[in-house]
Amino acid sequence: MVGLIGAMAVEVEGLMVQLEGRTEKRIGMDTFVSGRLFGQEAVLAVCGPGKINAALCAQSMIFAFHPDWVLNLGVAGAGDEQVSIGDMVIATCAVQHDCDTSPLGDPVGLVSKVNLVEFPCDAALGDRLERAARTLENVRVHRGVIATGDQFINRGDVRRRIHDLFGAKAVEMEGAAVAHACYVHGVPCGVVRSISDQANGQSDMDYPTFVRLAASHSQQVVQRLLEDRA
Ligand code: ADE
Repeated sequence: MVGLIGAMAVEVEGLMVQLEGRTEKRIGMDTFVSGRLFGQEAVLAVCGPGKINAALCAQSMIFAFHPDWVLNLGVAGAGDEQVSIGDMVIATCAVQHDCDTSPLGDPVGLVSKVNLVEFPCDAALGDRLERAARTLENVRVHRGVIATGDQFINRGDVRRRIHDLFGAKAVEMEGAAVAHACYVHGVPCGVVRSISDQANGQSDMDYPTFVRLAASHSQQVVQRLLEDRA
């Protein structure tokens, strides 16, 4: 069983319609839809935007379905100027850019209790995602840090600060929360994001224009990943 989480319906609905022998299970405010997806046992959920929605969903998925790995897929803003709309970013690790106890002497991004800045993503799953992504035509693929926070980033100076602090190649709102839940429960995880906007002053225009195209790219990567394993 593999677990797939998107924040919004548009990020998983192309996969949802391919699910065969569907069963639904509701836990709290999350609906988990399981069945066979491209030959694999899979469970899918739309967690809603933001870190807490994502962490709750990932934890419920892990407890109820015991997935071999959990993948967070969807769209993101670009983390630096070398990353463009339509590119794909696969996480080596994910950080929570809005965790900040630096006035107390901690590094920015440190998550107390787990005592981590960088939440690891599974390298073998990342390699497979990268191979799958490289089969898409006209899509550039990047591997690196994905930065997560409870903010839609639409200012170049804010994006640059996140890049300077963490070297982020993409900014979004859920990846590190899924990685956090997976880390706590010892489940391998991955984050794959397709770029919908540059996380700058154009993002309020670019995001609605490109979200569907970007969302379909990350779902195509998941399709190719699962077909490979079948
Ligand atoms: N998801 C897509 N674009 C984003 C942005 N600019 N900031 C945060 N999350 C995003």
